[in-house]
Amino acid sequence: MACLSIDSVSKFFGGHKALDDVTFSVNEGELVGLIGPNGSGKTTLLNILSGYLSADSGDIVLDGRPITGLRPEALARLGVLRMFQLTRVFPRMSVLDNLLVTGSALGLPEAEADGRARELIEDLTLTRMMHLDAGQLSGGQRKLLEFGSCFMVPPRIALLDEPFAAVHPTMKEIMAGVIRRRHAAGQTFLLVSHDMPVIVELCPRAICMNAGAVIADEKTRAVLTDPVVIEAYLGEAAA
Ligand SMILES: Nc1ncnc2c1ncn2[C@@H]1O[C@H](COP(=O)(O)OP(=O)(O)OP(=O)(O)O)[C@@H](O)[C@H]1O
Ligand SMILES: [Mg+2]
Repeated sequence: MACLSIDSVSKFFGGHKALDDVTFSVNEGELVGLIGPNGSGKTTLLNILSGYLSADSGDIVLDGRPITGLRPEALARLGVLRMFQLTRVFPRMSVLDNLLVTGSALGLPEAEADGRARELIEDLTLTRMMHLDAGQLSGGQRKLLEFGSCFMVPPRIALLDEPFAAVHPTMKEIMAGVIRRRHAAGQTFLLVSHDMPVIVELCPRAICMNAGAVIADEKTRAVLTDPVVIEAYLGEAAA
């Protein structure tokens, strides 16, 4: 069953078409990789799916319900949760409080939020940092924290924008492990990454974008060997 359906979504920035008739669905329980050269529109699509930008045309449906144009807060309450390419945490709050604030914003009762936050902190190996201000964490640890905040209430779909970029390999492995385990437990993901080995390892299916359009949507290995995809990346290298 489709969890999220994207139908003919387009977006212009001035005269530049950043998204060109993007259409695909993510089924419940799928872990779909979203790849494509720099500037191909991946973050713009995630911004639209999570309500931070509005589409110029097209429709987005979650669990059979139109969600086009809803604000980020409303989408978060419906279970569309988003991790940013540039990390966003509250730097003057402790690691634990960062997660509790997210839990409270999502309507989680305090005791439940506390239990869940401590579980996540352990899962993310942040136990020793739990009472430190988030601003004192390394960049990679901040990414882990933001990643964790997506799971305070298990989302209908988690939209992750380059969670592994510029993080220490140990933290990358921690995040990949959490994604793998949650996917095995039925969690639905759309995962943007330039890290092809991780995409191959984690994602059975991948979608490649180029110049705002979907150019491939197949099994991950087939996408990576698709001549159209290779040409898109080579074009980027030559540019
Ligand atoms: N707010 C904006 N205003 C104007 N142009 C924008 C804006 N945001 C993105 N763009 C342009 O839209 C296109 C798509 O950008 P986007 O950030 O979605 O690409 P991306 O696939 O996420 O790239 P990367 O892999 O480098 O993160 C690019 O040409 C970019 O310059
Ligand atoms: Mg991006």
